[in-house]
Amino acid sequence: MIDASYVPFGLEPIEQASRDEIAALQLDRLRWSLRHAYDNVAAYRQKFEAAGVRPDDLRQLSDLARFPFTTKQDLREHYPFGMFAVPQENIVRIHASSGTTGKPTVVGYTRRDIDTWSDLMARSIRASGGKPGMKVHVAYGYGLFTGGLGAHYGAERLGCSVIPVSGGMTERQVQLILDFEPDIIMVTPSYMLAILDEFRAKKLDARKSSLKIGIFGAEPWTNSMRSEIEDSFAMDAVDIYGLSEVMGPGVANECVETKDGLHVWEDHFFPEIIDPRSGKVLADGERGELVFTSLTKEGMPVVRYRTRDLTRLLPGTARSMRRMEKVTGRSDDMMIVRGVNVFPTQIEEQLLRCTGLAPHYQIELRREQRLDVVRLLVEARPSHADEASRAAQAAALAAHIRNNIGVGVEIVVGDPGNIERSAGKARRVVDLRPKG
Ligand code: DLL
Repeated sequence: MIDASYVPFGLEPIEQASRDEIAALQLDRLRWSLRHAYDNVAAYRQKFEAAGVRPDDLRQLSDLARFPFTTKQDLREHYPFGMFAVPQENIVRIHASSGTTGKPTVVGYTRRDIDTWSDLMARSIRASGGKPGMKVHVAYGYGLFTGGLGAHYGAERLGCSVIPVSGGMTERQVQLILDFEPDIIMVTPSYMLAILDEFRAKKLDARKSSLKIGIFGAEPWTNSMRSEIEDSFAMDAVDIYGLSEVMGPGVANECVETKDGLHVWEDHFFPEIIDPRSGKVLADGERGELVFTSLTKEGMPVVRYRTRDLTRLLPGTARSMRRMEKVTGRSDDMMIVRGVNVFPTQIEEQLLRCTGLAPHYQIELRREQRLDVVRLLVEARPSHADEASRAAQAAALAAHIRNNIGVGVEIVVGDPGNIERSAGKARRVVDLRPKG
């Protein structure tokens, strides 16, 4: 793991620019991006007109608040290519995000977009402590999902040796880590835990593996989970954020020397935090929904895209660009238990305090006698799988949740290996309530 002597290397000038320089660049690029969207995408032109705004109405950054939001629904309505701003022959790559309901959202990239994305992923890997010459094991899925190919191009751009494994076949993942000795792994944090299980099943000491850095994202995860993974592998675990609609992974990334939230790559994406109900822009430091406007994207610009991710913006530290706090969760994953808002990440924090329980979990929502009931499924660690330990662990976890979150949940402690494992994003909430 890195120590106090770690010095970040190879920073681009913009990563150390003053706030004024960043704002000036953003204003220039924002004007271009709004004009590009308005001139080339009918859906944006109609939305701007309905809201009574034109690209030239943006004189300062705060004028962006006058422009309309874009939602996933807008993208679906123009499925598949209706939001593209360049002729189809200039699109060199298409990705799509599956979504749990309805049509997927489709995104398109020009050659220059792929170039920018590669640069920003290289910047993200470097911020995570990666260096040219390091070997990178990519276990994010390859395909329409942006994780695998996004990581791949970025690692190549930085000058790393890429091992494009994709997700799944956990035994093989471990074998390849042992044989190829990668320095870096890029994977969802939940799948990293499945890889850890496989190390343990094979009686291998994960701390002795070659892995020094993990770049984890695509789903919410907590600082408690960071400690769990860092201790188990003797590695630095760093958070990476992104979404297909805005680009893919590499919209924001933590710096390994601070691990204090993710620096938003503000030279390419303009972030806002809004009140999800009123749509009003909130000041930095206030919690709300993250909204992005792309500043340089050619293929599919996005204007005020509502991510549904909840977080807050904080001033820069290791870099001058602002940080977003680790994402608490998506507004869709918020549960209301007897009037209290609860996110899976809050449950995760409490679970990780229980040393006899494994860090895997799933939350079931049921309806019983017209009341919503939350059942938390967890697993005993193999060393604590007897009846008495399980009962004690369930009671301890229930108490932590009651005292710290303020709700009562039913806890089921299953056998080791009982909880569904996913090779990509974990399914944390299973809604079994009747529809409608
Ligand atoms: O998950 C892109 C990605 C791939 C990011 C690999 C990081 C690493 P989508 O499939 O479109 O794209 O899903 C985007 O995933 O709106 C968040 O809800 C969630 N998400 C992504 N990164 C994080 C993170 C990719 N670091 C959606 N923390 C986003 C919390 C995250 N949630």
